[in-house]
Amino acid sequence: MIPVRSPKNYNRCKTSNGVKTVTKKAPVILIAAGPTREKIDPVRFISNYSTGKFGYALAGEAIRRGARVTLVSGPTCLEAPQGVKLICVESAIEMRRAMLSELNRADYVIMSAAVSDWRLKKVSSRKIKRSSCKVTLELVENPDILSEICARKAGRVVAGFALETENLETNALKKLLGKNADIIVANALKRRSAVFGDNNTDIVIIDRLGNKVRARNRPKKEMAGIILDKILSFNI
Ligand code: CTP
Repeated sequence: MIPVRSPKNYNRCKTSNGVKTVTKKAPVILIAAGPTREKIDPVRFISNYSTGKFGYALAGEAIRRGARVTLVSGPTCLEAPQGVKLICVESAIEMRRAMLSELNRADYVIMSAAVSDWRLKKVSSRKIKRSSCKVTLELVENPDILSEICARKAGRVVAGFALETENLETNALKKLLGKNADIIVANALKRRSAVFGDNNTDIVIIDRLGNKVRARNRPKKEMAGIILDKILSFNI
């Protein structure tokens, strides 16, 4: 059973004999998944190896548990689970806009997207020709969407992910505190295929009270259940 967090999540209805009844609405879980793409010119972009599998597995498991799910997704080859409200985006700026506009309706937020940290300062409107003598791409930082969401948390539980190649738990904890999230799912990148695209993975879930849950070598679908158990039972 999924806990309901706020009064806006109750339906009030009048029955035929005028008696008021109150029923619980399913909570809304807002999930960001997949990579972002930052345009260089009309045919090229900067991105990363994220496949979106984790975010889509979380969306599927949340639907299975009876939640209402909004999935803001960067470009992936995956089919969205039936019943989710899917919002497709491409760049970090588009993902930020979609996440912030959906935030008010959400009770829980999971930022599992691999957001590109940089975008081009100037996107070329024409294809950059190979014959251009020397190409230098000037990058500017993208907004930190998770930090912005955490700054507007207002009673929601917000979870992020941390992908690390070294000092997994120390770096994940720094992200949790630095971004003011409630929960961080730490994912170690040992081999590229061990995180991106693989079905099995290792995670450590850390909450802001310092509690840790470790799970090793399990399919992302099963991990999604473990992560949702933690998020849905977290008391602010
Ligand atoms: N994130 C975000 N906006 C960004 C970058 C990251 O919302 N511009 C979120 C990710 O979705 C994830 C968390 O922040 O939930 C951590 O992302 P990660 O890529 O591991 O870390 P960064 O903050 O980008 O830091 P670094 O690249 O230095 O490890």
